[in-house]
This record gives sequence, C-alpha cells and structure tokens, in this order.
Amino acid sequence: MAVRIPSISFYLAATEHSVPETIVCLLGCSLIALLIRWALLPKPLPGIPYNKEALNRVSGDVPELKASSGVRAFMRAQFLKHNSPIVQVFMSPISKPWVLIGDFREAHDIATSRSNEFDKSKLTSDSFKGIVPQSFVSYKADHPVYKHSKDLLRDLMTPSFFRNVSAPETYRNILFLVELWEVKLQLGGDRAFGAARDFYKAILDVFMGVTFDRLSTDTLITRQIENLRHQLGRGGFPSSTNQQEPVMFEDLPLPSDLEAVVYLVESINVGFQSPVPRISHWLYLHKPHSLQMTRLKRALIRKKVQEGIARLGRVGEKEPTLISALDAMLLREKASAEKVGIEPDFYGEAIHDELFTFIAGGHDNSASLCTWWVKFMTRYQSTQAQLRQSLRSAHSTAVSERRLPTVYEILDTRVHFLDAVIDETIRCSHIVPVTAREALVDTQILGRSIPKGTHVYLLSNGPSFLLPALDVDERLRTETARATKKRYGVWDPLTIAEFMPERWLKFDGDELVYNPLAGPQMAFGDGPRGCFGRKMVYLEMRIVMTLLTWSFEFLELGEDLNTFETTESSTENPQDCNIKLRKINY
Ligand code: HEM
Repeated sequence: MAVRIPSISFYLAATEHSVPETIVCLLGCSLIALLIRWALLPKPLPGIPYNKEALNRVSGDVPELKASSGVRAFMRAQFLKHNSPIVQVFMSPISKPWVLIGDFREAHDIATSRSNEFDKSKLTSDSFKGIVPQSFVSYKADHPVYKHSKDLLRDLMTPSFFRNVSAPETYRNILFLVELWEVKLQLGGDRAFGAARDFYKAILDVFMGVTFDRLSTDTLITRQIENLRHQLGRGGFPSSTNQQEPVMFEDLPLPSDLEAVVYLVESINVGFQSPVPRISHWLYLHKPHSLQMTRLKRALIRKKVQEGIARLGRVGEKEPTLISALDAMLLREKASAEKVGIEPDFYGEAIHDELFTFIAGGHDNSASLCTWWVKFMTRYQSTQAQLRQSLRSAHSTAVSERRLPTVYEILDTRVHFLDAVIDETIRCSHIVPVTAREALVDTQILGRSIPKGTHVYLLSNGPSFLLPALDVDERLRTETARATKKRYGVWDPLTIAEFMPERWLKFDGDELVYNPLAGPQMAFGDGPRGCFGRKMVYLEMRIVMTLLTWSFEFLELGEDLNTFETTESSTENPQDCNIKLRKINY
C-alpha cells in the first residue's frame, strides 16, 4: 500500500478512523518528522575535520559554542582540537558549514590573491545593511553601490589628508587627554584609575573632529577636564578609604546625539551575533528607543552636512576651508555629479552612510587598541622604558627644548622601536581576530572542495599568529600561497604567545630596523576588502603613544588591577584597563 502524505485535518481526525488507518497516519507523520530532521541536520564537507557529536544535533555546534567563552575563542579552539589548520563548524540549521582557516599563508592568499573566488561574506555585509544600506561595506565588490560609495571616501587615507586633517586633529585631542590625566593626578594622587572610558571619549572626539568639524574646543574630554577642575577648586575629591582601589572619577554622560551615534554603532553587534543578521537587526532598529536614536543621529548628520555645504561655498576664498572628511566627501560628490551633468546629492543616503561608516569603523577599534597598549606598557615595564628612550633619542630637539615633539616631528621621524610596539600591540590584542569571506564559485582550499556560497573565516588569533603553526602539506597550497614562503618570516613557536616588540626588528648593517614582514599579522584582514582605516590606525597610534609615553610613566600594578581577561563585543576588549601614572617633567 502506498504511503499517503497526511494533511493536518486528516491527522486531527485520525481518532475517528480505523486502527490501521491511524497507524499509517502516525507512521507517515513520523516519516515526515524524520525527513525534516534529516534535512536540518548538519551535512559536513568531505575531508574537513568537524565535531562528530554536532552531526546528531539540529543545533550542530551551537551547544558547544554556548559553553565556551565566546565565538572567537570557540573558533580558535577547533584548530587545536582537530590538530588541523582547516576545520568546519555547524552554526545554523540548513545553512552550509562554516570553514575556519588557522594558517597565515593560506588566509593571506585567500584574502589577497583569490578575490575572484572569495569576497566579503554575505553574513557580514548583511550585518551592516540594517544601519548603513548605502555604504560600500554592505556590498560585494562587483555591486554598483560599492564603487560609487567607496569613491566618496577616496581622499581620506591619503598622505595630504593625514597631514592636514587626521594627524593635527588626533594630536590636538590627545593633548586634551594629557591635560585630563594631569588633573586626575592632582585629584587622585598616586592612586590608579580606569582609563578605558577616557580613551573611548578622546578617540570619539578625534573621529567627530576628523569626520565633521575639526578644531572644536568643546569636546567630551575638555568638558571632563572642566568638571574635574571644578571639583579641584571645591577642595578636591572625596577619596575612598581603600587606597589600593582605583579612584572612581565622575564620568559625564555623552550628549544625546553622540549617545545615539554610539548606540547605533554598537547595534551592529546584534547582526554579528545572529544567524539571520538582517532580520535581527531590523527588529532591533525598529524598537521605539532605536527609532528615537536613529532620528537623533540623522538630525546630527544633516546639521553637519548643512554646515559643510556652507563651507563648500567658501572654497577658493583665502581661509583654508577643507577641514574634514565631510568636506572631502562633498567635494567628491560635487565633482562626480558635474562629470555626468546632474545635481550633487549632498543630503543623499550615500554621504550619510559613509560618514557614519567612517566613525563606526574607526572609533571603537582604535579606542580598544589604546586600552590594550597601556595594559602592555603597565605589565612590561622594560619595554615601556625602551620605548621612551627610543622616542627621546629620535626627538632630540624636543628633549633639548624641554617640550613635546610637534605633530610634524612625529609624522616625519622614523622611530623603529615605536613601529615595533605598535605592530606587537595590534598582534597581541587581536581586537577583530576574524576576517569573513564567502566562496563566489565552487573552489578548493588546501585540497578540500569548497562549494559556492560557503562562509570561510580566516582567524588571526590562532595557529601561526598567536599559537604555534600547524603542519601544512606545501603541495596542497596554491602557487601564490607557496610563493609567500620567502616573503614573510614565521614567529618562533616558543615565544609566539608573548608580547615582544623586538620580534618586529631586524639588523640592517649595525642598525635595528622595523620589519613589517617579520611574521604573520592579519589584524586588519587583507586584500581588496581589508581594513579601510589601517593606515590611519598606525598614524593615530604613533601620535597617541609618543605623547602619552613622553608625558607619563605608567607605573606597575598588581595582577588583580591588570588582568588580561577579555570581553567580546564587536571588538575584543580588556575587562579592565587601570593605570597608575607619574608625570614626567620633560
Ligand atoms: C585597531 C583598529 C582597527 C582594526 C583592528 C580593524 C580591523 C578591521 C578588520 C579585521 C576588517 C575586515 C577586513 C577584511 O575583511 O579583510 C576591517 C574592515 C574595515 N575597517 Fe577596520 N579596523 C580598525 C580601524 C579602522 C579605522 C580607524 C577605520 C576608519 C577610519 C576602519 C574602517 C574599516 C572599514 C570601512 C572596513 C570595511 C572594509 C570593506 O568592507 O571593504 N577600521 N577592519
């Protein structure tokens, strides 16, 4: 007898039928349930290791992920578990397995030399689409929006923009931070205090200045200084009885429009953490509070664009008018509209979204990097002393004139040890240790078949970066990956996990010079979809590290005040960032 597929009404009425019919109906239902379960169970790609238990669960690897300390730690652990630089995990029913790569040369090759086979993953671009649907970050490279939007940002990573806008604005705001910490020293004496929030605000000031209107003296940090000075004038700060605990200084709330900006930036994380990013993000952004935040953010950007357009009208007059990223974007929009004979769309979504992307992409990551840096300086005292010594030798005029190096001295002076500390901080803080790609065609990685549409994650917190490299059969690599063997060094497996800036230096004759190819580094992703702001990060860090190391000693702290535990959000941040300062009288 042929098995009939029962309808729901038939099932509900089953009790009124004869016993054999009921049995047939139940068998049919069970069969359907089994078929559905089978369809939802993970289907591994041949030849790539995976967790066997995950195959028997519709939820795949999710229970194991939930028991771990976060998705990035879970991913990293898989390489060691399977002793393989390529593994697969099952993160959502029906969808294809995710393939994880824990090998620098293979990851670098996929990102840089195979862009016709791999582009930005749809899951990542979908996480941005809810918030910046017209930004280039939300599209694959062959989409028309990608080209037009990226064109708007073309000037922002050029040497002239750095010299005229980003560097002076970073310098100016970090000087405010120095001033704030001097006031905190006066108020709190030699006690430790938390620095994460100060970095968060100072770097937000930098990004608001570079993006919109440089040279403002009404910043988050200057308001903080004013507030603490007021307390100083009233006779100081009510100190806690426990002198060992960090001082808790009052932290002024952000103005509502900036609160809206950071709220919306952080909302991107909702998409990142969901197997269906667009739906989750859409639901989140349509909550009443999110709608209110969106209104505030849009009003802020509109007002800034209005001011920018007014400045644009003055281009050509004597005063230098091109002061920010916004100005550069407006000029680009004007030029491209003129080229095709249409009116420029200054208030359009493209400019709005790229302005927001510039802040969203840069602020949180850069602030997080600063917090990691002071933690390393506090823990590794001899490295801090060596950095200070290198800076003082390089800026001898500033030493003899008993002043800080100027912004242009910092830009124009090569300090090899400073560059080494920057790269080692970036390597060890693994702020964004995952680069996501999607296979555009059926292809192969290390000899294994990768079907079109597979999400491939390149991890920079695991083997060959921060854990000893795993064996790879060279014959399985592509020709381009084989060719990189001579170009890059490898990290010594015995010290790979340690913070050791010297690893970035090599002898050139008698001189130790910075070598960016000393070993694996992929903290900014790589290739055409690599981090847009990478050069700006090195520039900012040169300024931050020089000014702060010149102005303060970061004194040693007990392990309890300087732990290296992390919290995962869109970036990987330290759980604590306490500092104890001594002012340097230069
Ligand atoms: C410590 C600081 C930073 C880190 C660790 C970092 C890391 C990353 C990583 C890992 C990616 C993905 C790259 C890939 O898929 O290959 C990325 C992309 C991106 N970053 Fe950064 N970033 C930092 C700072 C910045 C800054 C300062 C800006 C802007 C001023 C920025 C803007 C962007 C943008 C727009 C993208 C998307 C690129 C695309 O879709 O093609 N980032 N970043």
